[in-house]
Amino acid sequence: MSFYKKTIRDIDIAGKRVLLRTDYNVPLNEKYHITDDYRIKQSLPTIRYLLDKNCKVIICSHLGRPKSADDISCSLRPVARRLGQLLDQPVEFAEDCVGQKAEEAATQLYQQQILVLENLRFHPEEETNDSEFAKRLASLAEVFVQDGFGVVHRAHASTDKVTSYLPSVAGLLLEKEVDIITNVMENPRRPLAAIIGGAKIADKIDVLNRFLDIADFVAVGGAMANTFLLAEGIDIGKSVADIDDIDLAREVIAKARHKSKKQHFIFYLPQDGVVATSLNKTAHTRIVDWDAHVIADIENYPKRPSRKTGKVAHNEMILDIGPFSGAFIAGGLQFANTVVWNGAMGVTETPSLNGPIGPFAHGTDIIAEAMLGEYGHKPFTVVGGGDTVGYIEKHKLQNLVDHVSTGGGASLELMAGKKLPGVEALLNKE
Ligand code: 3PG
Repeated sequence: MSFYKKTIRDIDIAGKRVLLRTDYNVPLNEKYHITDDYRIKQSLPTIRYLLDKNCKVIICSHLGRPKSADDISCSLRPVARRLGQLLDQPVEFAEDCVGQKAEEAATQLYQQQILVLENLRFHPEEETNDSEFAKRLASLAEVFVQDGFGVVHRAHASTDKVTSYLPSVAGLLLEKEVDIITNVMENPRRPLAAIIGGAKIADKIDVLNRFLDIADFVAVGGAMANTFLLAEGIDIGKSVADIDDIDLAREVIAKARHKSKKQHFIFYLPQDGVVATSLNKTAHTRIVDWDAHVIADIENYPKRPSRKTGKVAHNEMILDIGPFSGAFIAGGLQFANTVVWNGAMGVTETPSLNGPIGPFAHGTDIIAEAMLGEYGHKPFTVVGGGDTVGYIEKHKLQNLVDHVSTGGGASLELMAGKKLPGVEALLNKE
């Protein structure tokens, strides 16, 4: 086991008044309906454990990044309602997380009752890790339980300072997340493959570097790949890329090439892509193979493909990896025993004109199929990061993935080998 902190199983918690930090930062639509309750569902085992132990459960969380305390779009009230539905029991709600309203609601709680406090970030002191604010929060309870994995990379009052005032232990979700992710990074069943997509190299450079050190196969897709292609001197038309990150991309490529000279290691950049002049479902798409393989222009066989085939035009954007790249990565995954996936391969949000898969989502789809065993071999799979998790949920694949992380930034930092302040602050196991 990688988890070296005390959990709710390690202390005498029976009958106690517990302050439980969760990450209920969930998406809401314009009618304030929750559009994805994965994070709420993942908090249920800890809540059920505490209820079984006759605890009084006081839940605190943030939601969004509110600018003021009357920003109703960031209220946790819809979350309290949804939690009540999921648990099939009434859940109380307090309109503030500290002060008279919170104190009264907390003291009126009976054993096995649940109270959700209003958004912690309605108080700027939460994010400044303010001692006084943390003390007021802590005064509501006898024990602090940290279960908000998605936010433990932040040193905020409810992740850090609060632990100065209460005995503080981990919940079951936090333990599971840290355990699985750390084991995959430190002790994976090899070969280990990492599929990294998303927009900015700078956001993922630490995790990318860690995978260059530890993985056997690293494939890059999504908009991030465009910057690597630019660094390789390939035309990318008007595709999204980060000019400022080109040097970073060159360093990664150099490090990868150096490693593959010394040992069996593959660093794969897409060699073809789906391009279009606009990002919409009716756009005319074509496949560009910038390595100019004949396969891209098979109709013309045996003629050489025209130069146009191998070039993204100045008014085109790369919006997905192409079929050649998808097949290569999917093939690679047939040899992997562990796969970590973070970031889509293309623009998966554009809906399809006809059928379930959007015009720029085929690359992501083939990777998901390969990872989930559709081609015969099923590696152990860990998925993290907002858009990838969204994709998995939209296609109802959660139950097929071995671990879908509730953390975006937190899972990236943990994978990169960084210490997480919200974990470090908890009591150590003896
Ligand atoms: C997340 O969604 O990644 C967490 O809830 C943290 O949110 P934050 O980036 O606003 O701190």
